[in-house]
Amino acid sequence: MKFFLDTADLAEIEEAASWGALAGVTTNPSLYARIGGKLEDFPAHIKRICDIVGPECPVSAESVAMERDAIVADGVELAAIAPNVVVKIPTMVEGLAATHELAARGIPVNMTLCFTVPQALLAARAGARYISPFIGRFDDISDDGLNQLANVIDAIGNYDFSANTVNGEKIEIIAASIRSANHVTQAALLGADIATVPFGVLKKMVQHPLTDRGLEAFLKDWEKVQNA
Ligand code: G3P
Repeated sequence: MKFFLDTADLAEIEEAASWGALAGVTTNPSLYARIGGKLEDFPAHIKRICDIVGPECPVSAESVAMERDAIVADGVELAAIAPNVVVKIPTMVEGLAATHELAARGIPVNMTLCFTVPQALLAARAGARYISPFIGRFDDISDDGLNQLANVIDAIGNYDFSANTVNGEKIEIIAASIRSANHVTQAALLGADIATVPFGVLKKMVQHPLTDRGLEAFLKDWEKVQNA
């Protein structure tokens, strides 16, 4: 499983990139609003993220247009920011049509706000490079997000989407809307290609009380060695 950071916060991205496990970044309009982002600064902000993570790491930037041609125009503009930009498009009719057009132009698309198997299959058929099934938002409405993710992974795996190749890369499933380290564990066991995680979850993924307890004991014992 690869790890993407689900944030628009440059400090978080810099910190996570320094850990050596960051394979990409996903942003969305809410995440950009959360850091106080302004419309006119958006392209430059995405460029800064691309520069931080480097050309091998895809960076998803979302179109908020609602009509096919406008989404395509957004997508072309976003893709021009840097070679590693992935255009994020909501799973809706106009979004599918735009994905189809952008994929034909060799521009990778991450289909977001994907909740069901039919949505994921349509996204794949349209030519999406990435599909982002949401976990946490299902849990928020007392449904089982991991079960829904499992269904999407199974269904996509049943078919050959090798025609979705963009620059030689195959379709990948991004487990999104992740709220806990356990979501990451279960998504990995289900075979999700990627987990996009908030920085808070990434930090929790490193931690375990037994690691803390073991480290404390090692440090105390090393003091004994130094004073022996
Ligand atoms: O990137 C989209 C997704 O991960 C958002 O998650 O926590 O807002 O449901 P959340």
